[in-house]
Amino acid sequence: MLLSVAIESPVETAVHVSSALICIYIISLTFYNLLFHPLSKFPGPVHYRASILPWAYRTLRGDLSIKLLQLHEKYGTVVRISPSELSFSDHAAWRDVYGSAETAKHHKFYSALSFGGLLPQIIIDAENGPHKILKGFMTDGLSDRSARRQEKLLLSHLDAMLVQINRELKREGKSNGPNTGHEGLVLDLNEWFTWLIFDMVGDLVLGESFGCVQHRRKTPLIKVLTEVTEAGSLVVVLWHVGLKFLVTGLQYLAGGKFLQVLDETKTRLVSRMTTKIGRDDLIEPIIRAEQEGKLSFDHLLGTTTTLLIAGTDTTKSGLLSFLYHITSSPDCLEKLTDEIRSAFASEADICLLRLEELKYLNICIKEFLRIHPPAPMGFPRVAGKGGRVISGIPVPENTVMSVDGYCITHLERNFHKPYEFHPERFLGVDEFKNDTLQASQPFSLGPHSCPGRSFGLAIMRLTIAKMIWNFDLETCPLSRQWTLKQKIYVLWKPKPLFIRVNPLASK
Ligand code: HEM
Repeated sequence: MLLSVAIESPVETAVHVSSALICIYIISLTFYNLLFHPLSKFPGPVHYRASILPWAYRTLRGDLSIKLLQLHEKYGTVVRISPSELSFSDHAAWRDVYGSAETAKHHKFYSALSFGGLLPQIIIDAENGPHKILKGFMTDGLSDRSARRQEKLLLSHLDAMLVQINRELKREGKSNGPNTGHEGLVLDLNEWFTWLIFDMVGDLVLGESFGCVQHRRKTPLIKVLTEVTEAGSLVVVLWHVGLKFLVTGLQYLAGGKFLQVLDETKTRLVSRMTTKIGRDDLIEPIIRAEQEGKLSFDHLLGTTTTLLIAGTDTTKSGLLSFLYHITSSPDCLEKLTDEIRSAFASEADICLLRLEELKYLNICIKEFLRIHPPAPMGFPRVAGKGGRVISGIPVPENTVMSVDGYCITHLERNFHKPYEFHPERFLGVDEFKNDTLQASQPFSLGPHSCPGRSFGLAIMRLTIAKMIWNFDLETCPLSRQWTLKQKIYVLWKPKPLFIRVNPLASK
């Protein structure tokens, strides 16, 4: 009897030995990270410096940026947020981390975002050669000039949405009501803007609208694209903590959905290539490059999918945030309404050229991009050979570095009253004269900055102007403190935004 207790079976022995080895490995790694790692001298909480798990936990909760704010308030400009990553919160870090080709994108992060290559050859994870070529063509297709050339197309989608909203108002018997502020209709703008932006970007990229506004629903393709975007954080974390095989499992589980996205995008793309030859849109320069053999069809397909993700989520969450902040600040809304309604003699005169000149509109846009940057997280870069100097601090080579767009714009040392919406800070008024305006870089800097800046701004300017021209907008109790409910899973995961839309009394 005694003997059978004392003697272990070979399986038990193997389990005990492996457990002991794993414990020894974890303990040695922890000691190494804390004492001997090249970043061991950088400040940060002990558990973040010792292990990747606290970073992973916050990323999965969608509140890493909020945590970083507390850490930067406590530790200053640079914080070690995982054993191999430093976060910076000084405005000069934008230029030092992102402004040069000598800091590469963190391949692990970006290949995780492309689901380990399941999304083919996307620009964000392309090797340097194809990236340069793709970016060149994309910059062409997404330029200011190109945005103005597509103005009519953007307006046609906006008008379609306004027709539907007006129909809804009529159906509810509100269109002739006096503008008392309680006669309008409460709309979930998260839904309406998802439909609108996918219709616009779908038309720009694939040559045809998804018809979401008309049918008031997302297509299955859009539902899957949204799920893929939301799964971003989970995939990134699994990849970083060494559970890459689980991503393969996810790919297997979601494989059917992915294939569906790729198949549908491919069918639409091929139809665009054959039936709309020479259409002057975003994708035309990249189609031409593919036909001239400079890029593969996979590059073209991957770029299309990327544009559908990168161009829609950011612009939509930007618009939602703008309308939330402006309707929550009645004085600002009044000024903006006055500016827009007096700048044009009729609705037909609303145009991008004129909107670009409207001073108040444009500082409101700058301020919302600061307070709620649509691409909020710290996109990781890696210090190249010989290391880099970031914000005056030498950083060893192979260090992962980032500037978190939400964190840097909410630190008191960069912006006075950082949680309040004050467009005048961009006019340099006395109260905000110490603000570091360069700390807000919503489109990032350098070789991987956003090529869609002009389009994003064009869509936002037109949508804001048309909404304010047509309706009196009012915040709604259901959406009080909307920003506090948001989580960041690589991009924001916006909650419904309920806004009361009042028809104008004179209409
Ligand atoms: C308010 C709107 C937008 C904001 C704030 C925004 C912001 C950003 C940011 C911060 C990045 C850099 C990400 C990184 O470092 O990995 C980026 C990249 C990118 N954006 Fe945008 N974006 C917006 C709209 C758009 C639109 C409308 C498009 C296209 C139609 C677009 C296409 C892209 C692409 C393709 C990249 C990857 C560029 C590269 O890796 O070189 N974005 N965007």
